[in-house]
Amino acid sequence: MRKYIAVLGIVLFGFGCQETPKAPEKTESPQVVPVLHKAPDTLDIPKDKTGDMIRYGRTLIQNFPEYLGPQGTIGKYGGNGLSCQNCHLEAGTRPYGFNFFSTHARYPQYRAREGKMLSLADRVNNCIERPLNGKPMPHDHPEMIAILAYLKWVSQGVPVDARVEGDNQIEIKLPNRAADLENGKKVYNQHCLRCHGADGEGVLNPDKYTYQYPPLWGKKSYQPGSSMHRLIKAAQFIKANMPNDLAKWDKPVLTDEEAYDVAAFVNDDETHPRPFTELADDYPVIEEKPIDFCKGPYADPFPEMQHKFGPFQPIIEWRKKNGQKTGY
Ligand code: HEC
Ligand code: HEC
Repeated sequence: MRKYIAVLGIVLFGFGCQETPKAPEKTESPQVVPVLHKAPDTLDIPKDKTGDMIRYGRTLIQNFPEYLGPQGTIGKYGGNGLSCQNCHLEAGTRPYGFNFFSTHARYPQYRAREGKMLSLADRVNNCIERPLNGKPMPHDHPEMIAILAYLKWVSQGVPVDARVEGDNQIEIKLPNRAADLENGKKVYNQHCLRCHGADGEGVLNPDKYTYQYPPLWGKKSYQPGSSMHRLIKAAQFIKANMPNDLAKWDKPVLTDEEAYDVAAFVNDDETHPRPFTELADDYPVIEEKPIDFCKGPYADPFPEMQHKFGPFQPIIEWRKKNGQKTGY
C-alpha cells in the first residue's frame, strides 16, 4: 500500500513538472508553514536481532514501570509508575511533544545542569532519576542498550548535532506578569481535572500500578529537579499537547496565558509537594541557569519567586543587557 502511494506521488509530481513553473507572487505575504520532521515507520524496523532490540527499547519507553519500575519484572530502577511516554509522547515521535527526533544525533553533549559532557545513557538516567524518581541504570544494562538502540533508530538520517523541524517546544508569548495561581486552578478544574484528578493524583490502570492518566503532583509524580517542573517548559508542553484527547500543537485548546497559569498551578510547591531532589549542585556555572529554574542562587538580581512564577521579561532584558544566557 505504501509503495502504491509512493508511485502515485511520483506520477502526480511528474505531471506537475510539465507545466511552466510560475514565479512566486511577490505581493502575497509569506506564510511560513513548517514541514515537520517525521519519525521512521515502525513497520520498517528490521526483522533481525537489531530490530528486536529496537522494538524492545520502544516497549520500554512505552511501558517502563512494568519492566523496570518499583515492582518491575526485569529490574527496579524507576521509583514511580510514570513511563517515559507519559512525557515523550507517542514513544517520542510526536512533534512538539518532547520527541526524540534528533536526540541520538546530539549526544554526547555539554549539559549546563551538570556542568559537563553527558553521554546519551547519562541523559536517559537523568530522566530515570528525576521524573521517575528512581536510580540510574548501569550503562551496559541490556535494557539501557535497548533504549539507546531505539533512540538511535528514531534519529536515523539526522546529521550529527542537527536540529529538525518539530524537535523542540512550541513558542508561547510570555505574559508580562507573574503567573496567576487562582486562574491556574480554574483552568485545571475546567480542562485537566477530568483525567488527572481533583488532587493531581491521576488514574491507575486496572493493574493498580501503571497509569491511564499520570499524576501531576504528589509523592508519585516527578521530582522538582525535572524539566517539567520549570514553568515555561511545562507551559509549552501543556499548550501543545493537553488536554491529551483534544489539543495538538497546531490546534491548541488553551491560550498562552492559560497554559502559563496552569503550569504554575501544577508546579506550585507550596500547595503541590513532590518527592525531594537535591538541587544545590545543579548548574555549577550559575550564569548558565535557565531563567525558570526554581532554585537560586542566580547570576542576576531577581528573587527565586520571580524565577518560579515570572514575570520573565525583566529577567530576560536584564540578562541580555549583561551578556548572559536567556534560555528556558
Ligand atoms: C515527567 C516527564 C518526563 C518523563 C516521565 C520522562 N522524561 Fe525524559 N525528558 C523530559 C523533559 C521535560 C526533557 C527535556 C526536554 C527539553 O528540554 O527539550 C526530557 C529529556 C529527555 C532526553 C533528552 C532529549 C534530548 O533530545 O535532548 C532523553 C534521552 C530522555 N528524556 C529520556 C527519557 C526516558 C528514557 C524516560 C523514561 C525512563 C524519560 N525520559 C521520562 C520529561 C520526562
Ligand atoms: C483526556 C484526558 C486528559 C486531560 C483532560 C488532560 N490530560 Fe494531561 N495527560 C493525559 C495522558 C493520557 C497523559 C500521558 C500521555 C501518554 O502517556 O501518552 C498526560 C500527560 C500529562 C503530563 C505529563 C506527564 C506527567 O505526569 O506530568 C502533564 C504535565 C499533563 N498531562 C498536564 C495536563 C494539564 C495541565 C491538563 C489540563 C490543561 C491536562 N494534562 C489535561 C491525559 C489528559
